[in-house]
Amino acid sequence: MKHALNEYNSMLSSVESPAYLLSESALRKNCEVLSTLSKETGAKIVLAQKALAQPELYPILGEYLAGACASGPWEARLAKEFFPDQAHILTCAPAYSDQDIEELLPISNHLDFNSLSQWLRFKDRCLTHQAENPEQDLKFGLRINPEASTTDNPLYDPCAPGSRLGITADELSKASEQDLEGLEGLHFHTLCEQNASDLETTLQLVEAKFGYLLQRPTFKYLNLGGGHWITKPFYNLNKLKQLIQHLQETYQVEVWLEPGEAVAIHSGVLMASVLDISDNNEVSNVLLDISATAHMPDVLEMPYRPDVFDIKGNSTQTASQDRPSYRLGGNTCLASDVIGDYSFNTPLSIGDKIIFDDMAHYTMVKTSFFNGVKHPNIILIKEDGSIETLRQFDYADYLFFKKN
Ligand SMILES: Cc1ncc(COP(=O)(O)O)c(C=O)c1O
Repeated sequence: MKHALNEYNSMLSSVESPAYLLSESALRKNCEVLSTLSKETGAKIVLAQKALAQPELYPILGEYLAGACASGPWEARLAKEFFPDQAHILTCAPAYSDQDIEELLPISNHLDFNSLSQWLRFKDRCLTHQAENPEQDLKFGLRINPEASTTDNPLYDPCAPGSRLGITADELSKASEQDLEGLEGLHFHTLCEQNASDLETTLQLVEAKFGYLLQRPTFKYLNLGGGHWITKPFYNLNKLKQLIQHLQETYQVEVWLEPGEAVAIHSGVLMASVLDISDNNEVSNVLLDISATAHMPDVLEMPYRPDVFDIKGNSTQTASQDRPSYRLGGNTCLASDVIGDYSFNTPLSIGDKIIFDDMAHYTMVKTSFFNGVKHPNIILIKEDGSIETLRQFDYADYLFFKKN
């Protein structure tokens, strides 16, 4: 994205702050990698909308991806309405209500259940709908929990002991043959920003614990979830291809992947302006027109430290005494609304614009109107260099949000 910023520098200075700036060419570059992988292996790849749910981008993403995965009726509906007609919608939520099932049955292609009790509660209704709508290509599956912890961060580990996500092999062994009737797929999601070697470790446990089901001819798909860092330059694509091939040959199943971050990584930034600079003892506090908690919550939740560029494209580094250093903070009352301490090549002044890198995924989808801080507009930098404002937020949006 840094290169795109340099290229579009003159335009950036004319864009009103604050704004999320999305790069069409960076998105397409990620999608090319995913679509080549799909063509080379036969695996189907969909967008995880939980990471990026900007419907104006779906026609672009639909050129490369097989569809989208949904965490419930609203995401499923968004994909149905804005992805191209032939897109597949794979739905998996931790739990469904009656109403959810009502809405999801007509628009999903895979409907995966997170527990046996949920499946058994809705099984008859699901199978009746399937029998009455053979043209829909709707299959039902279970989200399994292979108890394969491969991440150090328990916040992002669906396999942590006692996890509510997915059915363990032990629990599944209690199901009768009749309980399993009508199921055609398995789904797991256990990774977060990980390489193919972690998938390999996970698959060893998936095969050992659930391979007996995959071997049955009634089981037609295996969904490997998200968390695959496929579009990072160091990602081991060859190993992923081998693993996919192994699954297809051993079990004759369709393999699906549902990355979110890999679709959007390095494709967007958040541009903010300096509103004030005030000192407290040794600390120079920069007050920005954005907020970590409202507009980039993963910075506090995950937590993670974004790279920062000034508008001239200079990167910053961790605070160092020999350069102008600042604590970058948000414009809310939350004492911990702080992005971090950074040093710049030249001193910052009021009105300067700075750029937080990698702000397309898990940012716009998680934003809030906390403290009534102005919400950043959402702007697409198109391939030809022109800019399109996708969303412009004003008081009316804040009021609508508050009233509802
Ligand atoms: C079930 C499921 N699928 C896919 C994803 C997408 O993961 P990522 O954005 O890390 O690729 C997630 C993320 O939490 C998930 O929970």
